[in-house]
Amino acid sequence: MTPAHLIARKRDGGELSGDEIAFLVQGFVDGSVPEYQMSALAMAIFFQGMNDPETAALTDEMLQSGVQLQWAGGPGVVDKHSTGGVGDKVSLILAPLLAACGLRVPMISGRGLGPTGGTLDKLESIPGFRTDLSIDEMQSVVDRVGCVITGASEQLAPADRKLYALRDVTGTVPSIPLITASIMSKKLAESLDALVLDVKCGSGAFMKTPKQARELAESLVRTGERMGVSTRALITDMNQPLGRMCGNAVEVQEAIDCLSGGGPDDLRTLTLALAGELLIAAGRSQSLDAVRETLCDRLDSGAAREKFEQMVAAQGGDLSAVRPVASEFAITADRAGFLTTIDTEALGQAIIDLGGGRRRAGEAIDHSVGIDCVARLGQEVQPGDQLVRVFASERSPEIESRIAEAIQICEQPAMNSPLVLSSIR
Ligand code: URA
Repeated sequence: MTPAHLIARKRDGGELSGDEIAFLVQGFVDGSVPEYQMSALAMAIFFQGMNDPETAALTDEMLQSGVQLQWAGGPGVVDKHSTGGVGDKVSLILAPLLAACGLRVPMISGRGLGPTGGTLDKLESIPGFRTDLSIDEMQSVVDRVGCVITGASEQLAPADRKLYALRDVTGTVPSIPLITASIMSKKLAESLDALVLDVKCGSGAFMKTPKQARELAESLVRTGERMGVSTRALITDMNQPLGRMCGNAVEVQEAIDCLSGGGPDDLRTLTLALAGELLIAAGRSQSLDAVRETLCDRLDSGAAREKFEQMVAAQGGDLSAVRPVASEFAITADRAGFLTTIDTEALGQAIIDLGGGRRRAGEAIDHSVGIDCVARLGQEVQPGDQLVRVFASERSPEIESRIAEAIQICEQPAMNSPLVLSSIR
């Protein structure tokens, strides 16, 4: 059997066996299957899809292409993955919160590319914070503190890195089985007991409609379960930024507020919901009501914040050093009415254009840039009321007018989506 035969079978809607998928992925990693054949395979998968055994086999093979973390016996090892949203700083709160509940959280996160921002960029606004830990360093921080948030080592799922680069230039990123294998191969390389996925849906999300979000969430959960990891997903609203702050330094401060028992309601609510799902998936509790009290206590008592401080110190960060925030100006309502829509992606793009995100991989970013979404969907405003505060080193009338246009005010209020649209178990 040659790669060409297998690609042709997939193109015609046939199924590939686990061995055939292993042959193709291993060949791609060792160079015997060239990029043009792997691109053709990705396109065949894009059009024909994959069934559950094929998706799990692809995930497994990409996971096996690199090292897997090893854990000595002890508390459950858990993690969360978010498909990415504007203002989504949940990871910064969730990892220490779960560590404060006695779980181990080896969180491998990414950088922002595109409007949704990246956890590593946010954390790097803390002077000295290292996101390039080796696998040994990462495991040592988890053993000492209970949680770590760091970048993916090149040794984890290298097949995904190579395949993603091809997908990016061949129009094959938006394929449910390819996204599933990409996300799950990296997460399952952490050797988890339980995983929760936050699949975002709406104007600031990769998945714009509930139908697309559900399809991805179900595929992720089925693949995790098939691979022996207790997996759950929440489909959550991304029609406005999560919390008020979007940017880097400003999001870290909002996460610290939440870790200290404060912060915006939606951010706290979603963090508690995801943490609750994980505690149940890890077998720590039977019901969300029962875990809620514990989780609220860990936030309100300062226990989660203490874990965050320990994690930051273990990763070289100095929380007492200044995290600069650029000078601010407000954009105000020009009429009375209700906030009915926010083009959340446009706000994320404005942050990039102000220097707070990157257009190309590897670009430097300005951590002091951000937006504070003062007004929320459904809120009634009067002319002159603040809609957003923009933190920027330089003013740009063009970007400011795009931000203003991203927020619609109408005479009648509109129906808002709930924060958690559904859960998949
Ligand atoms: N995130 C990933 O890690 N991979 C994808 O394919 C899409 C989003």
